[in-house]
Order: sequence, then structure tokens, then C-alpha cells
Amino acid sequence: MPASTFPPGPDGTGKLGCLPEMRQNPMKFLEKVAHDYGGIARINMGAYYSYLVSEPKLIKEVLVDHYDQYKKNTRYKQVRMVIGEGMLLSEGEVWKQQRTFAQPKFTAKALDSQLCWLSALASEFLDNWKNHAESGKAIELEFQFNLLTQLLAGVWVMGAGFQQRAHTVAAIYNKIRMNWPEMTDLKSNLLNLKNLRKALYFRHALSSLNRCVYELLDEYPEIMREDIGFLRYLLAEGDPKKLIRQNRRSIRDQLLTLFVTAFETTATSLCWTLYVIDKYPEVKQKIYEEIGTVLGQHDPTPELLGKLEYTEKVIKESLRLYSSVHSFSRVALEDHSIGGYKVPKDMTVIISSYVTHRLAEYWEDPERFDPHRFDKDRAVGRSRFAYIPFAAGHRNCIGSYMAVMQSKLVVALIAQRYDLSLVPGHVVEPQAATTMRPKYGMKMHVSSLPALAA
Ligand code: HEM
Repeated sequence: MPASTFPPGPDGTGKLGCLPEMRQNPMKFLEKVAHDYGGIARINMGAYYSYLVSEPKLIKEVLVDHYDQYKKNTRYKQVRMVIGEGMLLSEGEVWKQQRTFAQPKFTAKALDSQLCWLSALASEFLDNWKNHAESGKAIELEFQFNLLTQLLAGVWVMGAGFQQRAHTVAAIYNKIRMNWPEMTDLKSNLLNLKNLRKALYFRHALSSLNRCVYELLDEYPEIMREDIGFLRYLLAEGDPKKLIRQNRRSIRDQLLTLFVTAFETTATSLCWTLYVIDKYPEVKQKIYEEIGTVLGQHDPTPELLGKLEYTEKVIKESLRLYSSVHSFSRVALEDHSIGGYKVPKDMTVIISSYVTHRLAEYWEDPERFDPHRFDKDRAVGRSRFAYIPFAAGHRNCIGSYMAVMQSKLVVALIAQRYDLSLVPGHVVEPQAATTMRPKYGMKMHVSSLPALAA
């Protein structure tokens, strides 16, 4: 195929092409495009075209073989306003310096050494669910997991000073989320009164968040000596007061980037994991058996969490069907080709884990929930690029170990205490927001368990 040809793809209708369909439900729309046009497709979005690349071999071309011909897609203004120039959005030398510097804090060894306090904080948080178990009042799982993962990520990133601010940050972040422009809002401009109001509330919440982080920063040098947070690591070389004074904005960006990337993705993915555990009774039974046998009522340690093999497969399978980051994209820096098709400079290339995780060539009966897909013998020969919940290549998720470890920890601590069951009649449907969240939340009943056998 000569590289002068564009790949096939849908045109949609009218001036906006496929944009309305894409905004309505990007996951389903992109799935249909891949089904109709194959591993690479060009989609008419009205004013511009985007490519969907869903075939693993071609994903490798974009993320690994030709990684230097792309940059991150940072066109989404609101994300940049919240997290700024941290590791997720930075490019070139700034990114390289941030990533290299942070890497030692993300190794399995470094993260395992934090498990003890993470587990204590999470246990204390989950013990409070007893009130819900006693009152019979359902919990809103997504809300609860956001609080919990904010607490864990906040202390890990910003240190102990975060704990006293956790409720304030949660309230502020909630305002940011409620006023986040929806995909369908973007077509109308700020002259629309509802959007104008949302934009003002969004900015107001963001100023409160900044104030909170700057206050924490100003107090930090006093408590730094005993602290465990990433912030201590960031300020270790030199005079902390001077470093903070000279690099306020950059430190704020790095902290908020790690905080936001860590908590929201993990909270949503935990929600889906608890959903599938409840939905499939045989999965629930096996998980509770494994946690009962391996942990009983003992505190989780890295060694014990390492033995929760079935639980880990359930988390992985839940990340396959419900990747909290359902898609990510890159922008071409120059004219080149993918799979023999022409890719012009500035083209946005979308990679959808939602779509690739459902390709029947790689995932037999893809909609079926089957944790044993991750058994060693069944995973042999499957392309590494067919499973991309944490992306791949040099800009892959630096926190993937942390995400799986925290998910295992929380599932284990819950299984030691409670049984969760979806409120009958509660509708569960994925929605594309900043993560792929349950559109109507996730209401669950909590029942306390008699202590698990050791
Ligand atoms: C289930 C949970 C998580 C999922 C599904 C997830 C997924 C992803 C994905 C798909 C990317 C690539 C985005 C892109 O290329 O545009 C990414 C990047 C990133 N993630 Fe995660 N993530 C999770 C948890 C975490 C955690 C716990 C942290 C810890 C701080 C983290 C930190 C980051 C950072 C800093 C980046 C940017 C890396 C870079 O560009 O060098 N993530 N994540």
C-alpha cells in the first residue's frame, strides 16, 4: 500500500461529520468504526480528521517504533489548567527530567515499602463503613473510592499535611468535576449562560485548590524532616524554603499531576472491580476464598499481596473491560505513515483501550468476564499491545504498579470486613468523563462479615 493513501473511514453527515456521534458515546462509536473499517481508520470530524488506531501491531508503530514522531495531545484546556506542566503533559527535556527524577519512587521496592501506612490509612477509612452496614443505608461507591484514593494519593504525594486538608480538597475537587465541560457542551460557546456559569465555578474551584496546595507548601519545611511524601523527595536537594519560593508553580504542577493521575483512575477502576466481583458470584466466591486463605485477618504485607494471584487477575480483567482511561491520543509532528497509510503532520491519532480490549482476534468472546485470560498459558503469544490499560512505550503509566497494588490492597481490606452488593435496580452504564466512570454512580449495600478464617 503506497503511503500516499489515506485509510478508509466514516464521513458522518452534515458539517460536523462524525463529531456528534463521537461526543455522544466515544467508546461505542470508536468500537463501531474499528468493526466497520479495521485496524486503522480516518474519521471525519467536520473541521478536521482524526485517526483511530486499534490494531496492536499498529499501536506499537505509534507508541514505540515511531514514538519520536508524536507528541502528547494537550489540546484539552481544562486538564492543563488543573495539572499544568507536570509529567503527564510536559514534553521534551522537561518531561525527561521529571520522569527520570520520579522513576525511583515508582519501583515495586519503593512502593512496597510504603504499604504499611497505606494499609493503616485505608483500614481506618474502611472501618467507617460499619455505620453503613449497621444503618442499612447504601453507599455511593464512586464517591467513597474517590475520597479513599485521594487520601492515599494525597499523603503519598504531598505528605502528612494533606490529611488535615483531605475533606477540603475533596469538596473542591467535586466542584471542579461538576463544572467540568461535558463533551456535548463543547459545541456551544461561552455565550451559553449555563456554560459561562460552569466556567466561572470551575475557575473559582481551581483558585481554591491552588490556595490549598500553596498553603501546604508554605508549611512543609517545618514538617519535612519526618515526612514520607514525594514532596520531601522533590525538595531533598537544597534549601526547601528557597526551592519552594523559586519554583512554586512548577512544584504545584508536579504535585497536582501525580495526585490527579493517581487518584481518579484508581478510584474508578476500583469501582468497576467491585462491580464485577458482585456481578459474578463465582468470582466473588473465589476472591473471598483466596483472601481468606492467604490473609485471613492478618495485615496485608507485600509478600501476602503478592500471593493474591486470582485477585490480581480479576483486577486485570476488570481493567480490560472497564479501562478507566478508555482512550488516549497523540499528535503527529511530521508527515509519515502507519501501516502503509499516510499520516499528515498535526493529525490526531486516537488509541482506544476500550476498542482494542474488545478485538475478537485477541480476546475470544470479548464481552465475557474471564479472569483466567491472564493465566500464564493463555497469555502466551498474545501481543503486548492488545492489552493497554496503562498505555505502552516511553509515555506509559508510571504508576501502573502502584495502581494494581493499591487495588489489591483495597479489595483485600474490603473482603476482610464486608460483602458489597449492588442496590437492586441500580442502573450501571459506562460514561466517558475524565475517566470512564459509571454514569449513574455505583450504589452498593454493605454487610459486615464475621471475621475471615486465618
Ligand atoms: C487504574 C489506574 C490507572 C490507569 C488505568 C492509568 C492509565 C494511564 C494511561 C493510559 C496513561 C497514558 C496516558 C497518555 O499517554 O495520554 C497514564 C499515564 C500516567 N499515569 Fe497512570 N493510570 C493509573 C494509575 C496511576 C497512578 C496510581 C499514578 C501515580 C501517580 C499514575 C500516574 C501517571 C502519570 C504521571 C502518567 C504520565 C506518564 C508520562 O507521560 O510519562 N497513574 N496512566
